[in-house]
Amino acid sequence: MKIFIDSGDTNEIKEAQSMGLIDGVTTNPTLASKSGKPFKQLIMEITEIVDGPISAEVVSITAPEMIKEGEDIATWHKNIVVKIPLIAEGLKAVKHLTEKGIKTNVTLCFNANQALLAAKAGATYISPFVGRLDDIGAEGMQVIRDIRLIYDNYGIDTQILTASARSPMHFLEAARIGSDVITAPWSVLKGLLHHPLTDSGLKKFLADWEKGQAKQ
Ligand code: G3P
Repeated sequence: MKIFIDSGDTNEIKEAQSMGLIDGVTTNPTLASKSGKPFKQLIMEITEIVDGPISAEVVSITAPEMIKEGEDIATWHKNIVVKIPLIAEGLKAVKHLTEKGIKTNVTLCFNANQALLAAKAGATYISPFVGRLDDIGAEGMQVIRDIRLIYDNYGIDTQILTASARSPMHFLEAARIGSDVITAPWSVLKGLLHHPLTDSGLKKFLADWEKGQAKQ
């Protein structure tokens, strides 16, 4: 499973990159605004850190405007993936951009039917938001299972990008199901590293080593 970091913070992207953990980056208008940087500058800085797919989202809502915006964003760097919301106008834009050879990430997906339609339009990635489904009492990971089944039934090559991942269980389940990619904030990725037995085990190894050294 490929791992993307969901972030507009270049310091945390650098930190994750230095550990070799990430294959790409996703951003959204909320994360980009939080960075306080002009959007193009932020995306260009990210392209300097990570050599992998970098999703940059359009902010218009009609197909002609999304196409114009998407075509412009795609010229910024070879690794750009244009992120488009899963609405009717968005799918028109996805079809057009796909025909032009531009990669797309269809975002704000909340069920498997939407994911099937996005794939028909030619989406490179589909982003189902599992955490936001859990927030309203639905089972986010079931949507990932359904999409995996449907895409496999028909040999669809749109990549499932599990998004809005907020917990280690989202991560584990996504890997079990065979999600192609997961994107998660740095706080979640960092959290996956920790285990109390790793910490106590290391403490004991080092204490035993010191004891041994003192005897020599
Ligand atoms: O980038 C899209 C998605 O990952 C947002 O996650 O936590 O705001 O629902 P969240």
